[in-house]
Amino acid sequence: MSYNFETVKVEIADKVAKVILNRPEKKNAMSPQMHRDMTAALDQLRYDDDVKVLVITGAGNSFCAGMDLKGFFNELKGKDPAEYDRITRMATEWRGRTMRYFPKPTIAMINGFVFGGGFSVVEGCDLAIAADEATFGLSEINFGMFPGGAVSKSLANTMHSRDALFYGMTGRTFNGKKAAEMKFVNYSVPLAQLEAETMTVAKEIAGKELSALRATKDGYRFSLEMTWEASMSYTAAKEQEVFMAQKGGWLENGIGNFLKGDYKPGLGDQGAAKKK
Ligand code: COA
Repeated sequence: MSYNFETVKVEIADKVAKVILNRPEKKNAMSPQMHRDMTAALDQLRYDDDVKVLVITGAGNSFCAGMDLKGFFNELKGKDPAEYDRITRMATEWRGRTMRYFPKPTIAMINGFVFGGGFSVVEGCDLAIAADEATFGLSEINFGMFPGGAVSKSLANTMHSRDALFYGMTGRTFNGKKAAEMKFVNYSVPLAQLEAETMTVAKEIAGKELSALRATKDGYRFSLEMTWEASMSYTAAKEQEVFMAQKGGWLENGIGNFLKGDYKPGLGDQGAAKKK
């Protein structure tokens, strides 16, 4: 199954949606249309029962070359303030909020260039796996700007201050291996193995229970901003939510089958880890 938008392609198989930023001739720079398309694609994927995990990647040799410097800045800034504001809001919303709190896990599969605003796409995803050969750069300083919009906050969320400020101030590039060393991505693999590796992880996660996956994300992300007491109260409420969503499944079958001796949850989920 697939959906096609003007600048975004979605391919769905085995409960995993591969979401492809699709302007390879422009290195997948985010044009106003791409922000509209990603907003629409994420809305459709949110409610698609055939999809449990999203893998975001780029067509060609680029993941995302950041904001479209021509179609966004050059053609809108100062010329059409209302449209500039509208697209800015859309651009920060889908990366900064929709993806961060998306009800399904998201994985960035980084196949090539990541510049400027592309950092926010990576940061908006729950997990990130990069090609060793990928090229990352906070290039804004090279044209006399700084990582604006959602990017500064993305850096503060996922990079150590020394790394964020070093690369933000020098505009130097770094590769996927370095991104992994800095923990901006989970890990990196040679480009030739990137798709197989990422899809293995995506399918593994797609085999888990969706309400528990969502609670894993929400529990982590919202707890970051909560006091201890608020977080305890929130996760107690979440536990009830998951219990009701599964009609008690984790207690009856999950824990129940362990207690019957059917499998060992410490070693994998049911089916994958039968009691030895
Ligand atoms: N915005 C608009 N157009 C972009 C773009 C961007 N962010 N990044 C690449 N493109 C366009 C190029 O202008 C070129 O268009 P053209 O064929 O009409 O001339 C096309 O994509 C291919 O890019 P090109 O520069 O020829 O490819 P390359 O492999 O030599 O270099 C990059 C690739 C990504 C290193 C280089 O294009 C670049 O530095 N882009 C700007 C990245 C950036 O600073 N992004 C931050 C934005 S906040």
